[in-house]
Amino acid sequence: MPEKIFSTSKKWSVIHVLLIGAVLFLVGFFAIQPETVSAEKSKGDDGIAQCAQCHDDVAAAFAGNAHKGLGAVCTDCHGNAEKHMAEGGAIETIVTYKGKETALKDSAKCLVCHKNTTGEYMSSPHGKSSFACTECHTIHGKVPEKHLLKVPAKKLCSTCHQDVYAQFNMNERHRLQEGILDCSNCHDVHAPATRERLGGFKQETCLKCHIDKGGPFMYEHEAVTIEGCNACHEPHGSPNRHMLKNQTVGDLCFSCHTGAPSWHSRFSATPTNCVSCHTSIHGSNLDKLFLK
Ligand code: HEC
Ligand code: HEC
Ligand code: HEC
Ligand code: HEC
Ligand code: HEC
Ligand code: HEC
Ligand code: HEC
Ligand code: HEC
Ligand code: HEC
Ligand code: HEC
Repeated sequence: MPEKIFSTSKKWSVIHVLLIGAVLFLVGFFAIQPETVSAEKSKGDDGIAQCAQCHDDVAAAFAGNAHKGLGAVCTDCHGNAEKHMAEGGAIETIVTYKGKETALKDSAKCLVCHKNTTGEYMSSPHGKSSFACTECHTIHGKVPEKHLLKVPAKKLCSTCHQDVYAQFNMNERHRLQEGILDCSNCHDVHAPATRERLGGFKQETCLKCHIDKGGPFMYEHEAVTIEGCNACHEPHGSPNRHMLKNQTVGDLCFSCHTGAPSWHSRFSATPTNCVSCHTSIHGSNLDKLFLK
């Protein structure tokens, strides 16, 4: 008897394991789908045809859009259009992406599918400024720019951030104007401002390209590991060598170090003074004073 019970419950547990496995598989399968298209998808071309009766030009142009190929239909973005159609075009009941007051409410339609990339949008500086997604993106027709941007990425940010853009004209700078990189290499416009995130600015952004500066080193310079690259560099550009914050390296170092050995006072304010000896200033595997 006990044996039988044992084997039955074992059978059950096998079934359970299989069931749980199947459920986990399905959950996992859907969870990893990148940007999911809603159930409206099943409506397919009907979801377009009903609008094409009156908007044939728009519907035709839509065929060239990235969203068409994905099975997105008009109401995914424009909302319930029953009343709009019944009343031959009343626009109060549909989502138009036009009013400044409704910008964020309208954009929530986009977030339904774009949670993965833009899920934190509402707490980003642009979301907080009540910008709709359409401030930077455009949807209909064949959009020539990558990522359905309204204007080329290079010009887009400078329309509002002229001051920052101007910093990229300084002597020492990243070659943004030449297209070596753009603002989005360091900023995600859809995410909260780095300074407002836990832990502040993440220097991982810089390490994507400057991998050698990140260590880990046997002897870390805490200025790098704790405060990050910004402690010494101006990422947008600076008049100083290597985009440093100060004109002389000595001034930079002494802004944090008051305790250098007294014989150090003989080093005049020549631009390279300290790093001529403390050569591995970003961290070292050989010397705790970064002398080699
Ligand atoms: C019976 C005709 C008719 C049908 C069907 C129709 N519309 Fe319209 N729609 C109109 C008219 C007319 C206007 C222009 C209204 C205006 O500008 O005041 C309009 C305007 C719009 C606008 C733009 C509003 C603006 O701000 O300029 C959108 C978006 C829109 N329709 C979406 C849709 C969608 C999505 C569907 C299908 C679900 C649809 N329409 C079906 C007649 C129709
Ligand atoms: C992926 C979201 C999305 C889908 C799908 C979509 N639209 Fe739009 N539509 C927009 C946005 C956003 C705007 C505002 C203009 C812009 O920035 O492109 C807009 C603008 C419009 C306008 C105003 C015309 C104009 O040029 O200002 C009409 C009409 C319209 N859509 C109808 C449709 C119809 C019909 C369909 C289906 C064939 C459709 N839309 C599918 C997002 C979408
Ligand atoms: C301030 C301008 C701006 C606003 C506002 C904005 N975007 Fe973007 N978006 C961009 C730029 C620039 C890129 C290209 C980023 C890059 O090159 O990595 C982009 C890329 C994207 C991508 C492609 C990203 C990828 O990694 O595949 C999606 C999807 C997207 N945006 C959706 C949205 C949605 C949805 C909204 C509104 C909730 C929105 N964006 C608001 C500027 C903006
Ligand atoms: C029904 C789901 C759905 C809706 C609603 C939707 N999108 Fe998309 N969109 C997608 C999918 C899926 C892709 C292709 C995958 C990708 O590139 O992220 C895409 C692609 C994009 C891209 C191009 C990404 C690239 O790298 O080229 C942008 C930008 C974008 N959508 C913005 C928007 C905006 C803005 C809205 C609202 C007006 C919107 N989407 C509404 C599903 C949707
Ligand atoms: C339509 C105008 C507009 C456009 C286009 C725009 N921004 Fe902004 N941006 C703003 C506003 C407004 C704020 C919030 C106020 C501020 O901090 O200046 C902001 C804030 C920011 C911040 C955070 C500033 C902080 O204090 O930490 C960054 C980073 C940023 N934008 C980068 C970009 C990038 C990169 C682009 C281009 C892809 C871009 N913006 C395009 C208007 C814009
Ligand atoms: C090499 C990386 C890098 C590039 C490229 C870059 N930024 Fe920044 N940006 C930063 C860092 C780092 C900060 C400081 C972040 C912090 O303090 O949290 C910053 C801060 C900002 C701020 C807020 C502080 C300020 O100076 O007003 C804005 C706005 C901004 N960047 C916009 C832009 C725009 C627009 C572009 C393109 C023209 C751009 N950034 C290109 C790295 C970069
Ligand atoms: C997308 C790649 C990329 C990212 C991200 C990046 N850089 Fe750079 N950086 C470069 C390139 C390439 C150069 C060489 C100069 C040039 O061509 O612009 C450079 C040059 C520099 C220089 C000057 C070197 C010299 O010899 O004068 C400093 C300092 C610097 N970067 C710091 C940073 C900091 C700090 C960050 C993060 C806020 C950062 N970089 C993010 C690619 C990048
Ligand atoms: C304690 C201050 C300090 C911090 C923090 C710092 N740097 Fe530097 N960095 C310097 C100094 C000083 C130089 C100039 C070295 C020289 O003159 O040889 C320099 C030079 C550079 C250079 C150009 C020369 C080279 O060695 O390639 C790059 C690139 C660079 N730093 C990137 C970074 C990055 C990325 C970070 C963050 C991970 C960072 N720095 C953090 C002080 C600092
Ligand atoms: C943003 C602040 C900051 C800047 C700028 C800075 N450091 Fe440091 N440095 C630190 C901190 C924090 C430590 C860890 C030990 C401490 O508390 O003094 C450290 C450690 C050191 C050490 C190891 C010896 C010791 O005191 O533990 C040397 C050597 C050193 N720094 C040299 C320099 C030089 C040279 C410069 C200029 C290129 C510089 N530092 C710029 C913050 C800074
Ligand atoms: C000629 C080479 C040389 C130059 C140039 C130099 N240092 Fe040093 N530094 C050393 C040596 C060697 C030591 C360790 C010996 C000692 O403690 O007397 C040291 C020690 C230090 C220490 C660690 C003190 C401790 O023990 O905690 C700091 C901080 C420091 N230097 C900062 C600087 C700064 C800032 C500059 C530029 C103004 C600078 N150094 C220029 C060679 C140099």
